[in-house]
Amino acid sequence: MNRATAAEAFRQVFDRPPTLVTRAPGRVNLIGEHTDYNDGFVIPAAIGFATWTAVAPRPDRTLRVHAGNRKEALTIDLDAPGAPLQRHWSDYVRGVAVELERDGHRLAGADLWFAGDVPDGAGLSSSAALEMSVGLALLLHSGIPVDRSRLALAGQRAEHHFAGTNCGIMDPFISAHGQANHALLLDCRSLDFRPLPVPESLSLVICDTGVRHALAGGDYNTRRAQCEEGVAYLRNFLPSIRALRDVTPAHLAEFAGGLSHVVQQRCRHVVSENERVVAFAEALETSDFDRLAALMAASHASLRDDYEVSCLELDALVEFAGDAPGIVGARMTGGGFGGCTINLVQTADVDAFESHVAEAYERRTGRVQRIFVTEASDGASEVPSAVNP
Ligand code: GLA
Repeated sequence: MNRATAAEAFRQVFDRPPTLVTRAPGRVNLIGEHTDYNDGFVIPAAIGFATWTAVAPRPDRTLRVHAGNRKEALTIDLDAPGAPLQRHWSDYVRGVAVELERDGHRLAGADLWFAGDVPDGAGLSSSAALEMSVGLALLLHSGIPVDRSRLALAGQRAEHHFAGTNCGIMDPFISAHGQANHALLLDCRSLDFRPLPVPESLSLVICDTGVRHALAGGDYNTRRAQCEEGVAYLRNFLPSIRALRDVTPAHLAEFAGGLSHVVQQRCRHVVSENERVVAFAEALETSDFDRLAALMAASHASLRDDYEVSCLELDALVEFAGDAPGIVGARMTGGGFGGCTINLVQTADVDAFESHVAEAYERRTGRVQRIFVTEASDGASEVPSAVNP
């Protein structure tokens, strides 16, 4: 998609041109899984797939919304926006509009069209891309100065209150703040971040299991509750901790014995994963590929064994990547229970890598696999009409 096709699609629906077009990307997480809602560290990158939004003003306070991919339309009255948790794409649009207004902004009515190419349900944050693209369009269209971190927080609250997923800040944050050719080391407590260049010789290769799992389905929220249970208990011994971010492996060894086995496992994953993220950032900056490989493998094993969010198909993809040409490191990415793996692959070997993994995967699972090669991309932005990306 580009600005011209987005503008044309808008014109077909609303019979006039848009005044403003935005795009916001999906994301892939290099490492730091299930750490964000524990106030920890993550290293995501924005990817080349995005959601596009086109808007034009209306004189009233309604949003007439058209979902281009599904060819569905509905109207949202900003003064009576309607109920959350409808399990429908409109939850995200309604959610981000309402949460921006709760943040003190007054939005103007709009005709609004959106569509995108972030694969749905693949764990590549199509919902964050939608929230950031629509949210940015609504702010700019209403003449409101954009604070990207506040926009990301509004997206996160939309997930909590309107979609029913108690997610962390990672996905909307990277969709809002992404930088071309860089991943971001993000501190999910302070929201401070540092861009880390992705080594030029490497490609980000995303392998999709084809297995789908809705995060709002409950397992994700259960994991989060187990982490909170761990913190509540550990506070008996460590009164100053606020989240698993504040807990060390030594703390766990000393104090976690009274927790259930499962909660101990969950805590061990998060505490060890935070350490891996910090080490990964260093390894990326020094192009220490052996270290990157070891950290990704340890992250995957911890998600599989301690956090129990992997599945046979994800494990198979990581296994096949391990002896594929050009592989530097592989692990599952995103919430888990299906979705995708992230593979750091030597760019020169990407084609050979793809055919090796795709053949092995089809042989083992009977499933045809989709593979996306992407580069780290810029975050949400307005797309001016003179530019045609
Ligand atoms: C989903 C959530 C994120 C994060 C990841 C796991 O993508 O939306 O906030 O928790 O899972 O790292």
